[in-house]
Amino acid sequence: MDHIKAIAFDLYGTLFDVHSVVARCDEHFPGRGREISNLWRQKQLEYTWLRSLMNRYVTFEHATEDALRYTCKHLGLDLDDDVCKALCDAYLRLLPFPEVPETLPELRRRGLKLAVLSNGSPHSIGAVVGHAGLVGEFDHLLSVDPVRVYKPDDRAYRLAEQAFGVTRSSILFVSSNAWDATGARYFGFPTCWINRAGNVFEEMGQAPDWEVRGLDELLRLYDVSGAARGQR
Ligand code: LAC
Repeated sequence: MDHIKAIAFDLYGTLFDVHSVVARCDEHFPGRGREISNLWRQKQLEYTWLRSLMNRYVTFEHATEDALRYTCKHLGLDLDDDVCKALCDAYLRLLPFPEVPETLPELRRRGLKLAVLSNGSPHSIGAVVGHAGLVGEFDHLLSVDPVRVYKPDDRAYRLAEQAFGVTRSSILFVSSNAWDATGARYFGFPTCWINRAGNVFEEMGQAPDWEVRGLDELLRLYDVSGAARGQR
């Protein structure tokens, strides 16, 4: 990792837990929260990929609301407009994974530039990161909105290269989403997969350069490579 100058993070599922909406879903649909949250996230991702393929971009919030409406219909649950709004609003206040708030300043202390690169819109990224009080930890909050196509399209990853103004080989891309880590690696970013759940990686012709169980572990990896550099 000695050549790394900057880090671009995926947001949803990587820094923030998309399933922190389970409790809110349970309030409205008792006992169904986990099931709703799982299908909601899966559909949300599918809708972003499909819309990119069809060249029919809508914002991430729009795709998220469509996915929630599909999920409730599929599960036979009656979703009125107020509950739909309440649950979509909950998506703007997701919780960070526990080790994230303390690890970001540690990475900055090591001289690394940090950015979020997310399929979220500027509004949703700002709301989620702002609600957790973490805006000041990032040099850039990058949304795919200006290019109107979602990750894993190359045009989305290029936004981080442009914002940092350094070559892609010196930008570490960090994601918990294996499909995203795959796209980033095809683009040419060195890539770290945060595999908190002990999942298997995608079978799409790429493997992550590093695999960790949490963001704090990334810090240790970086320090070990720094120590190795110092000894040379
Ligand atoms: C992100 C989601 C899709 O780009 O993980 O933040």
